[in-house]
Amino acid sequence: MNRAFKISSLFLIHFLIIFCGVQSASDLIQDTCKKIAATEVEVNFNFCVQSLGSDPHSHEVDLGGLGLIAVKLLQANITGTIEYTKQLLKQKLDPRLLKRLSFCWRLYAPFEGKDVIPFYKAKDYSSVAGFAGVFGDNEVLCDSQLTQKKGMVPPLTKRNAEIFQLSAIVVDIMHFLGWRA
Ligand SMILES: *[C@@H]1O[C@H](CO)[C@@H](O)[C@H](O)[C@H]1NC(C)=O
Repeated sequence: MNRAFKISSLFLIHFLIIFCGVQSASDLIQDTCKKIAATEVEVNFNFCVQSLGSDPHSHEVDLGGLGLIAVKLLQANITGTIEYTKQLLKQKLDPRLLKRLSFCWRLYAPFEGKDVIPFYKAKDYSSVAGFAGVFGDNEVLCDSQLTQKKGMVPPLTKRNAEIFQLSAIVVDIMHFLGWRA
């Protein structure tokens, strides 16, 4: 075998490894979301693929990396909703809405500034799933409070629905990583 051929075949092998790596990463998002959407009725497949695919590193990671992306998305959404709710509570609101928003606020407030990434990195998937699971429930509670009264425009519904889906995605990925409830 001559030298040039050796070098070019090495190059080809590298290229194939990189190419297959990229290929399987996007399959990983698709497969993961397919599995999640099949068991979680409230998780929309496209929302899942878009969310997990939104990170610039999404297509280079394994399941562990995908889990980290999901946890980060969930936390960013929770933080965003907490900030948004705080802003709303500062405004002059219909007292009925204020009462319900305050209810939501009491559910969120304990999680302000909470960071579960260290737990995730320590492979403490049970703590991460516990955190995400609680949030799934809180969102439902908060939303049912907000939508109880007819004629009120619930200001958190879209955010709640996203957080709810992200929570389910995180809990499921903890399962896939080996967490057993
Ligand atoms: C919440 O999650 C959605 C879906 O992944 C994303 O599009 C949105 O940017 C996130 N919001 C925040 C505040 O991080």
